[in-house]
Amino acid sequence: MAAPASSPTPSNDADVFIELRDVHKRFGKQEILCGINLTLKHGETLCLIGPSGEGKTVTMKHIIGLIRPDSGDVFVGGMHVNKLKDREMAPIRQKVSMLFQGAALFDRMTVEENVAFPLIESGVRDKAEVKRRVLEALEAVDLAEHLEKYPPALSGGMRKRTGIARAIICRSECILYDEPNSGLDPIGSDIIDQMILRMQKRFGVTSIIVTHDMRSIFKIANRVAMLYRGKIHFLGTPDEIRASPDPIVQNFINGRSDVTG
Ligand SMILES: Nc1ncnc2c1ncn2[C@@H]1O[C@H](COP(=O)(O)OP(=O)(O)OP(=O)(O)O)[C@@H](O)[C@H]1O
Ligand SMILES: [Mg+2]
Repeated sequence: MAAPASSPTPSNDADVFIELRDVHKRFGKQEILCGINLTLKHGETLCLIGPSGEGKTVTMKHIIGLIRPDSGDVFVGGMHVNKLKDREMAPIRQKVSMLFQGAALFDRMTVEENVAFPLIESGVRDKAEVKRRVLEALEAVDLAEHLEKYPPALSGGMRKRTGIARAIICRSECILYDEPNSGLDPIGSDIIDQMILRMQKRFGVTSIIVTHDMRSIFKIANRVAMLYRGKIHFLGTPDEIRASPDPIVQNFINGRSDVTG
């Protein structure tokens, strides 16, 4: 069926991969997103920052269609995500992988089985190919020696890295990382930053990374968006955010607690 003439259409700029247009979302009485506008180009790495509870995870979930906006539009790779029915989401899930904040591993599956899961779901059946790709993904996060462990026997950082291996294994065009560095020591954190950079350089992956780590931001981001009071309060390069005269931005990036005042 043809879309009505008034139906919103994605940007006609072929470089644009993700577009959130005036996205509003409330849960009960609480308005979380109050008109989010954000555009990402193919191959771009955007870091999303902002105080806890402001809606960073909720924003990412809109992009993969796990949460739908009350109003506004979400486009990914030219598809109108929030107009797709649940059973029509497969192409979005193929294009976009997400590392969930708590890693969201299956406790009854080994590390190897957890990482293989999305690859098998996507239709790869050749066991040797699955094994090779699992090892490759685990090597990228320095976990290749822990294939047979179950998640309850892993440290917090190892669980996080297993989640990352699972997010990268399908070589999606876009990867959303919800706090990939939290709970990692500085070296573990640097391994993840280097991996994110490699994915971008080698495969042109488009990424959004929620992080509180300013050192990571300066290493990996093309742009930084700060979510504050339901809107994108700041959008610019890492150098621009560092130089921003805005006290809300400065308090946040310098860890001063009056940011939410
Ligand atoms: N499914 C849901 N039902 C009701 N409220 C929700 C739901 N998901 C998120 N929220 C609320 O939306 C707000 C934003 O949550 P979100 O998880 O996006 O915050 P965040 O910015 O990712 O915070 P953090 O840095 O702590 O992870 C919170 O108040 C949260 O309680
Ligand atoms: Mg979150």
